[in-house]
Amino acid sequence: MLVMVPPHPLIKHLTSVLRNEQTPPAMFKSAMAELGRLLIYEACRDWLPMISGEIQSPMGVANVEFVDPREPVAIIPILRAGLALAEHAATFLPATKTYHLGMSRDEETLQPSTYLNKMPETFPEGSRALVIDPMLATGGTIVAALDLLTAKGLTPKQIKVISAVAAPPALEKLSRKFPGLLVYTAMIDPVVNEKGFIVPGLGDAGDRCYG
Ligand code: PRP
Repeated sequence: MLVMVPPHPLIKHLTSVLRNEQTPPAMFKSAMAELGRLLIYEACRDWLPMISGEIQSPMGVANVEFVDPREPVAIIPILRAGLALAEHAATFLPATKTYHLGMSRDEETLQPSTYLNKMPETFPEGSRALVIDPMLATGGTIVAALDLLTAKGLTPKQIKVISAVAAPPALEKLSRKFPGLLVYTAMIDPVVNEKGFIVPGLGDAGDRCYG
């Protein structure tokens, strides 16, 4: 498994806005959405199928390339916080299908449960999927989500995970279980505390976005 932390000044800036406990909810949510846009941009490098052809510009014929609209990227935001990180995906990627996945972690046991699953019976062969969740803490949620995807025919190589902050327990679990997976995250923090929060992290992303 590969973990990519894109070294970009805007990613660092947005990360700092998210970490700051003084950042108000509206600014937090919009920083999360912008961060998602940048991480998805990085994740799509050399990954999207292209088609080429000719097009008439006002000044002449040009050879052009487009992202192939016949092969939409599956966007899988893990609710709730994943909705904020995925906010721009369906508008700035040329062809997507969004499948919402609602997962909630029990505050005591830290075990995830699924309360909404809008995924299809199976994914078409050759599909590409972006699984989007800002926090990879103990890893219970992301592993449960990827288990659902692989049961529907996707292999780890067809999946990219987009997160804002990841911690070692989650990365170790993912690496053991899903070789070939690619994870894009803005930061890796060292500690998950006894309540399951990443330290220093950015707090409870779902609550900071949606109250
Ligand atoms: C948070 C977070 C991840 C999960 C990470 O969601 O957004 O989905 O916890 O924890 P884990 O790696 O230890 O499983 P939460 O269950 O709080 O739901 P929310 O997004 O609705 O706030």
